[in-house]
Amino acid sequence: MDASKAVGAAPTGLFIGGEWRDATGGGTFAVEDPGTGEKLRDVADGQAADATAALDAAVRVQDDWAATPARERGEILRRTWQLMTDRADELALLMTMEMGKSLAESRAEVTYAAEFLRWFSEEAVRIEGRYAANPAGGSRLLTMKQPVGPCLLITPWNFPLAMGTRKIGPAIAAGCTMVVKPAQLTPLSMLRLTALLTEAGLPPGVLNIVPSASAGRTVAPLMADPRLRKVSFTGSTPVGQKLMEQAAGNLLRLSMELGGNAPFLVFADADVDAAVEGALVAKMRNNGESCVAANRFHVAADVAEEFTAKLAERMGAMTVGHGTEDGVEVGPLIDEDQRAKVAELVEDAVGKGADVLTGGAAVDGAGYFYQPTVLAAVPAEARILSEEVFGPVAPITTFTSDDEALRLANNSEFGLVAYVFTRDLDRALRVAEGLDSGMVGLNTGLVSNASAPFGGVKSSGFGREGGTEGIEEYLSLKYVAIALG
Ligand code: SIN
Repeated sequence: MDASKAVGAAPTGLFIGGEWRDATGGGTFAVEDPGTGEKLRDVADGQAADATAALDAAVRVQDDWAATPARERGEILRRTWQLMTDRADELALLMTMEMGKSLAESRAEVTYAAEFLRWFSEEAVRIEGRYAANPAGGSRLLTMKQPVGPCLLITPWNFPLAMGTRKIGPAIAAGCTMVVKPAQLTPLSMLRLTALLTEAGLPPGVLNIVPSASAGRTVAPLMADPRLRKVSFTGSTPVGQKLMEQAAGNLLRLSMELGGNAPFLVFADADVDAAVEGALVAKMRNNGESCVAANRFHVAADVAEEFTAKLAERMGAMTVGHGTEDGVEVGPLIDEDQRAKVAELVEDAVGKGADVLTGGAAVDGAGYFYQPTVLAAVPAEARILSEEVFGPVAPITTFTSDDEALRLANNSEFGLVAYVFTRDLDRALRVAEGLDSGMVGLNTGLVSNASAPFGGVKSSGFGREGGTEGIEEYLSLKYVAIALG
C-alpha cells in the first residue's frame, strides 16, 4: 500500500452515536506530515456542542453496555486486535505519515497498541468481587465491581494508537462508554482505529470521538457535566493539573499519566555494551518523544568514558530521514515548536559548558529533523537535566558512589520511570527500592508492556494503565452488608 492510500483510508469526521458527521459549523483543521511540513488531510474541528452530543450518546447507551455480557465485550476487543494485526502495515504507514517516526517504530507501536486490546479482552471476564463472613459473626459482606460510567479519554500525539488503546481497552472491558479526544497533531490513526472497532461490532454510542483544534473548547464543557464520571489523560503535567482543578467540581475519578524525567543509571559493575544497547532503546525509541525516554544519563566515573564513547558512536551512526524511507531509524520531531525546544535545551547545556560528542544541531531542509546528540560533562545547572527534552538528545553526567547515584536520580519533581544497569543483585534491589518512580527498568531500556502496570508518582501523575491493575481504573467497588438471621 502506498502512503496516500493509507492516509486516504482514515476517516476525518466526528464519530457520535455510531455515525460519522461534520463538526458544528463545518470547520476543519489541517493535519500535516512532520517529515515534509505538508498537509495530509483536513479533519473535522469539534466544537463544544459536538462534545456534549458525544457525551449524550455515551450516556444513552451506558446502562445497556454495562449489562452486555463481559464475554461479548471482550470478543469485540479480541476481534479488533485481529483487525489491527491484519492491517498492521496500513496502520503503521498512516502513523508514520502523521507522527513522523520510522516505519519500524510504527509497526512496533501497532503491535503494542493492539496488545492492549488483546490483554483487556482477557481481563473483561475476570472482574470479580468477594464474599466474607463478618469477623464478629452474624452478617456477611459482599463486594462487587461495576463500571464507573461515561469516561473522557484524552490522548497525546506521540503514540497515536497505543495511548488510545490502553484507555479504550479497559474502558470497553469494564463496561464503560466513552468520549475520546485525540491529539490535534495526530488524530488520523485514532479515527482509523474507531472504524476498526466499529467493524469489530462495537455498538453505536459506546465510543464517540471528537477531534478538535482546541482541547479547551471540547474538554471544558464535559468536565463540568455531572454525567461524566471519569477522565483519563496522558500529556503534560501543567495540563494534568488544570484538568484536576476542573475535575474537582464533579469529583471525577482521574487517571493521570504525565511528564517524566527518567534517569538512566550505569553502575561500574554493569555490562557496558548491554547498557549502551539499553540506552539506545530508552533514549531513541519514538525519536526520544516519549514520557519514558531516558532524559539524563548518570554513569559511574569508572565506566563513563567507555559508555559515553560507545553511545556517541552508535547515536552518531543512526540514519535520520523521512520515516517511510528504507533504513531510516530516526524520523522528524513532531513540529517546529518541539524542535526549537530541543535546540534551546542543547544550547543552554553547551553554553554552560557541556561537550557535544555527536549531533547538536537541527537538520537543514523541509521537516522538523534534529540530529541524534550526545552531550558529555553536562553541568548540574543545565536545564536539560531537569526539563523533559522529548527529543534525540542524551546528556551524560558522572557519579562516584551509590548514594550519589540515587540522590541524582531522585533529584526531580517527576517520577515515572528510572533505568538501572548493574550486575550486582544486592545493589539492583537496593537501588530499585530507593528510586522515587512508578517503574524501574533493570538491565533493560524498555518497560512498556500491555501486561504491566504503567504509571508514575510525584508530578508524573497517578493511576496505572495496562496489567491487571489497568481495568480497576474503570471500575467502582460496591459493598453490600447482608444480615444473616
Ligand atoms: C508515553 O510516552 O506517554 C508512553 C510511552 C509508552 O507507553 O511506552
